[in-house]
Amino acid sequence: MPRLVVVSNRVAVPDPEGPRLAGGLAVAVNAALKHREGLWFGWSGQISPGETNTPPVTVERRRRSFVTIDLIENDFQEYYNGFANRVLWPILHYRVDLAEFTSVDLGGYLRVNARFADALSRFIQPDDWIWVHDYHLLPLAKELRARGHDNPIGFFLHIPCPPPDILLALPQHLETVGALSHYDLVGTQTQHDADNLRNYFELQGANFARNQTHFDIDGRRVQLRPFPVAIATKVYARTARTAVRSDFANEVRDSLNGRSLILGVDRLDYSKGIPHRIQGFAQFLETFQNWRGHVTYLQVTPQSRSDVPEYADINQTVNTLVGEINGRFGEPAWTPIRYVNHAYSRASLAALYRMARVGLVTPLRDGMNLVAKEYVAAQDPENPGVLVLSQFAGAAEELDGAILINPHEPEGIAAAIDAALQMPLGERQARHRRMYRHLAAHDIDRWAESFLAALMESRQQPRLFDNIRQLFAVR
Ligand code: F6P
Repeated sequence: MPRLVVVSNRVAVPDPEGPRLAGGLAVAVNAALKHREGLWFGWSGQISPGETNTPPVTVERRRRSFVTIDLIENDFQEYYNGFANRVLWPILHYRVDLAEFTSVDLGGYLRVNARFADALSRFIQPDDWIWVHDYHLLPLAKELRARGHDNPIGFFLHIPCPPPDILLALPQHLETVGALSHYDLVGTQTQHDADNLRNYFELQGANFARNQTHFDIDGRRVQLRPFPVAIATKVYARTARTAVRSDFANEVRDSLNGRSLILGVDRLDYSKGIPHRIQGFAQFLETFQNWRGHVTYLQVTPQSRSDVPEYADINQTVNTLVGEINGRFGEPAWTPIRYVNHAYSRASLAALYRMARVGLVTPLRDGMNLVAKEYVAAQDPENPGVLVLSQFAGAAEELDGAILINPHEPEGIAAAIDAALQMPLGERQARHRRMYRHLAAHDIDRWAESFLAALMESRQQPRLFDNIRQLFAVR
């Protein structure tokens, strides 16, 4: 089996001493590396002092190499804070209004991608398969090809892909989105995302095959397919079963004083629709007054990307709103919303999910949203809670037992919370069973294997066609 080289912006180097904080990307990469020798390359998360790049650092852990590089301050600002998170992130989340493009940041983004390719180049062996993750690294395959690497290279986009009208608003989009044509395989979260990308490439002159799963452009062939990212469903369910009996869980349960828990868990990001959700909760207290004093809404929101101005703004907005709603509806013995900014371990989150009667996952736009899947996996099948899910989360294509809402409609969120709290046990069980079965069958191992199988096929198919063509040519 060939070695797998994984590349992503951040690398989760395992810390044998620390708690398990692993996010969705780490779970996905670990699944891909489970049965094979591998190397994971990316940014260490550290900024090196001065103006000179330091050499890569390698850590070996259980048949895997973790190779990381530091970024100098300028690169961090232009590549990560600038182009990746102030241009690509908003545009790919349909928020052209928030994009702050500068050609300096685009230059930094392209420069860091070239630097990734330079640093990675000497680790690549001719038989390696390479799997690149996410919007930080759109042009990486182009850079690696320019350095002579003819390996199979796949790319997976973890975040949404909007229609061409929005992609075309990205200045010099051919340098970034267009550069995806240098990969052998491009994977998206949903069919909708794949269709949007297909339409974009058609506008750039790509020829799509009849079955629409690959296209030819400038003499290259690219497979394009959805691979909805998943979780380690059974492992997560087991974690939740145990964690719900922990001291942490008991303390939270005691503090609820018999009230039903409504839970939201999101990184602090404007794409997550947290202010809209809080407004929806306020509408719920307004319309369904009988629930006042009988529910607690806990919103767990670790801060992120705090150097980016739009993230400071959302922080301010959420803090103000939480204060307003608690002031308006709260009583001396009841705080309607608890808002916390800490990051919790997987086990602690699993315990919270299992305790929550309602999981509120209402992003304005989300590639997949693994919180939705984790919430379902964590439930007690005998007495499951109900998932209230945005129609604009990728997970909505799969989780047909959720109550789907439009996050822009507070009355809809309010009615969905009420319906979830009132839902009879039989219906809750039936909805949960359906979703759990789907998640157990489509787990993260299957996701990783299907992507890698498609990557292998993407290399075999054109060669097969070439061989057949050659055969006929000789005759
Ligand atoms: O969802 C996209 C993503 O880049 C994930 O891969 C990552 O875990 C998350 O956003 C957090 O982003 P950052 O690395 O910028 O903190």
